[in-house]
Amino acid sequence: MVVTGAAGFIGSAVCRALLDAGCHVTGIDSFDPFYARRVKEGRLVMLRRWARFTFREADVRTTPLMEKVLARADVLVHLAARAGVRASVAEPGPYIALNVRGTAAVLEAARRAGVRRVVFASSSSVYGDAAAPFVEASTALRPMSPYGATKRAGELLCRAYADQHGFRVAVLRLFSVYGPGQRPDQAVHRFAHRLVSGRPIERYGDGPLERDYTHVDDVVNGVMRAVGWTETGGARCEICNIGTGRAVTIDRLIQLIADSLGVAPVVVMAPAHDGDAARTLADLNKARTVLGYCPTVAVETGVPEFIQWFEVAYGRQSRAAS
Ligand SMILES: NC(=O)c1ccc[n+]([C@@H]2O[C@H](COP(=O)([O-])OP(=O)(O)OC[C@H]3O[C@@H](n4cnc5c(N)ncnc54)[C@H](O)[C@@H]3O)[C@@H](O)[C@H]2O)c1
Repeated sequence: MVVTGAAGFIGSAVCRALLDAGCHVTGIDSFDPFYARRVKEGRLVMLRRWARFTFREADVRTTPLMEKVLARADVLVHLAARAGVRASVAEPGPYIALNVRGTAAVLEAARRAGVRRVVFASSSSVYGDAAAPFVEASTALRPMSPYGATKRAGELLCRAYADQHGFRVAVLRLFSVYGPGQRPDQAVHRFAHRLVSGRPIERYGDGPLERDYTHVDDVVNGVMRAVGWTETGGARCEICNIGTGRAVTIDRLIQLIADSLGVAPVVVMAPAHDGDAARTLADLNKARTVLGYCPTVAVETGVPEFIQWFEVAYGRQSRAAS
């Protein structure tokens, strides 16, 4: 197996699950500067304990290396990307360079190396402000951010490689992933930092704001099922939502984080962000039918578990700042 973005939040968790399942895994990551390298290095410490894990620090657009690594693999799990909706509005360049050109380069390297089984991480952001719950068959997709647009471009490239080159691709539209090790720029992690340091949380816009928050364990389960699915037939590209099928308001989320930390939240209103959908919610019928996917972690258990990890990861530092 080759996993791109292996030092990332989701990639490291996927590598771990694949190693637990007995696979040989080659992880690729360039330590993209979107957030601190030491956070990513920290995730690799755990993975490097397995003799079946090999890590290559490389950009996925380095074609000769990718072809060489893929020549020894049967499955590609492509998770490397520049993530983050809001940052993509301010600076779209890296999103196009990494998510579109990077995905094109990876698919082409896979084709040349003879790898036909691919799992690709897309995003709920491709739906934009479509009516929730979001259904994969929806054709009226209008991503609201460059990030969402680059993910949709990646999906279309995957479909073209299935049609033209016999690839079997599972495209997973992931919904707001959280859990231990979450990226520092994401809502749950960012809010926890603000709450322990006594700073107010900015709530963007005065309208309803709801997200389908998905625990990383459920996402890993979805990826593992998708890997299995790529083995079961011929050329095809299927898109499946990976969420929980439940929308949680931002206010409820903040309260859950505050309760887990044992603090009272202070929330201030701020203008709505460009690129943010008001509501995301996954319809899971297709993921259930195609992959047998069934989420198991509710925010009521997932958020306290995240906070346990947060308090260990940041130790006294997080409390001392409060
Ligand atoms: N976290 C979420 O809520 C979420 C939601 C929807 C989709 N996704 C998608 O899931 C995937 C993983 O997201 P994440 O939250 O773990 O993000 P992450 O930033 O933690 O992981 C992505 C990894 O890819 C690496 N990378 C970036 N460009 C690269 C390149 N050119 N070559 C090699 N490595 C490169 C980065 O260094 C990083 O370690 C991404 O494709 C993201 O778009 C995530």
